[in-house]
Amino acid sequence: MLEELEKIEHGALETLSRVGDDAALEAWRVTTLGRSSPLMQVFDRLGSLAKEERPLIGRRANEVKRNLESRLAELSEALRTQALARALQTERLDITLPGRSLAPGRLHPSTQILRRIYAIFAEMGFQVYRSREVESDENNFELLNMPQHHPARDMWDTFHTLAPGVLLRTHTSPGQILVMREQAPNPIRVILPGMCYRYEQISARKEIQFNQVEGLAVGENITFGDLKGTLTDFARRMFTPDVRTRFRASHFPFTEPSAEMDIECFLCQGKGCNVCSGTGWLEILGCGMVHPTVLRNGGYDPERFTGYAFGMGPERIAMLRYRIDDIRYFWANDIRFLEQF
Ligand code: PHE
Repeated sequence: MLEELEKIEHGALETLSRVGDDAALEAWRVTTLGRSSPLMQVFDRLGSLAKEERPLIGRRANEVKRNLESRLAELSEALRTQALARALQTERLDITLPGRSLAPGRLHPSTQILRRIYAIFAEMGFQVYRSREVESDENNFELLNMPQHHPARDMWDTFHTLAPGVLLRTHTSPGQILVMREQAPNPIRVILPGMCYRYEQISARKEIQFNQVEGLAVGENITFGDLKGTLTDFARRMFTPDVRTRFRASHFPFTEPSAEMDIECFLCQGKGCNVCSGTGWLEILGCGMVHPTVLRNGGYDPERFTGYAFGMGPERIAMLRYRIDDIRYFWANDIRFLEQF
């Protein structure tokens, strides 16, 4: 019996010395220490041994078992350490590689100009009023002194909807009616920004959608001088403090008198170049004194109240400021264009 144990131990240690991985080690454990292994059978047979033999064989069998178990644990631990070392070698990350930098988001050039416009008018006491893009024919034309079939409507090529009398606003001026009806008879000083739509042939100069910023001031002592002063001051803050401006007589059905404001061409300083088509001036907005009919439509008595209004295109201002020569870039979503702002 003792010899048999000697052989078991010796044989087991022999095979263990050839074990190189976890799977082989597990197989070794099953054959050496498993339930039906020769060693376990020795334990099974202890009961049938003579009384005197039992303690000696039993002690020796336990010794062998403990020895094999501790060798098993040692090797298992050694294999784990080896595996870890191997993983550290082969799965090493090269942390010296520079990362890919994230492209930061940026504001659309129109948004940048719009925010600048809000800030300038806020300093002058104007509040921002948000109106709507889908409008009634009534607000967009009729109440602005352009009845059905009025020839002046041709100035605004219009997207009509299937619902009769409902259209996409062609300018921000219908907001004048909404604000006046909401505020009458209180004085008003607001700007109304937003998207407008026109049924245009798209070209480098014309888009079917664009922003406008409307301005409206109504009160008891408002004059054309206030209009000129406010817009000249705006131009100085928006462009340069010494920019020259001029007002040219114009016509809009909802203002009387009406004008367009030009700024001196900042490319040629008024000498005349291809940006200003040789005139030395760039047109930036339309304006005028609110027509008495429009004041009345808004709920103000034109005998007591006067007002001025203006409308400008932020994309046009951005084009002048950043020398963008094609308006189609604004909504083309070309990252190469947008990244430049
Ligand atoms: N609504 C006019 C346009 O779209 C601009 C304008 C606004 C003119 C207010 C006068 C007063 O061309």
